[in-house]
Amino acid sequence: MTEHLTVVKHPLVQHKLTLMRDKGTSTAGFRRLLHEITQLLAYEITREMPLASTTIETPMEEMESPILAGKKLALVSILRAGNGMLDGVLELIPSARVGFVGLYRDEETLQPVQYYFKVPKGMHDRLVIAVDPMLATGNSSVAAIDLLKEAGATDIRFLCLLAAPEGVARMKEAHPDVPIVTASLDRELNEKGYIMPGLGDAGDRMFGTK
Ligand code: URA
Repeated sequence: MTEHLTVVKHPLVQHKLTLMRDKGTSTAGFRRLLHEITQLLAYEITREMPLASTTIETPMEEMESPILAGKKLALVSILRAGNGMLDGVLELIPSARVGFVGLYRDEETLQPVQYYFKVPKGMHDRLVIAVDPMLATGNSSVAAIDLLKEAGATDIRFLCLLAAPEGVARMKEAHPDVPIVTASLDRELNEKGYIMPGLGDAGDRMFGTK
């Protein structure tokens, strides 16, 4: 991908995002919408995956037909909200390997604190898609990408639902080689590091906590 930031303006994505932002949307509805939007965003983030050719036989005749080639995929969920995006991508690419990065945000310093890290072997050979619904300050996203690079990843993309300008700028500064795909670039962060207008705490809304 050549663009650092891609905002997917497809009407289905924008419609579903409006429903997700609405505070009246139920926990079950929020989870289902996140699953659906993730699949539409995954379509965009995988657009340039390389194809090879394979010989098959249709019921009519033999043909050369395209098939995914090249690097295998690692899907990395940035816990815990990233888990709400995992299944959507896995339904499309069932052979993807899955990793987890556990980071929580210290509510006072807004800095990320690591508590878990487990990724598949051979990260240097894989296309890595890191998923986290909210790119807010960018602190945890940058820290997660730092860890993935330390584990050997060289080809990383970041998939999120909402991005704040501050987080995009922070990612661009720290990881200009990591393209970001999102459904919306929102206005700003508030003083507590929440995205405005945003949708609130994505983890709380998808898991019904708080
Ligand atoms: N994380 C969230 O869940 N929501 C925000 O607005 C910012 C970070």
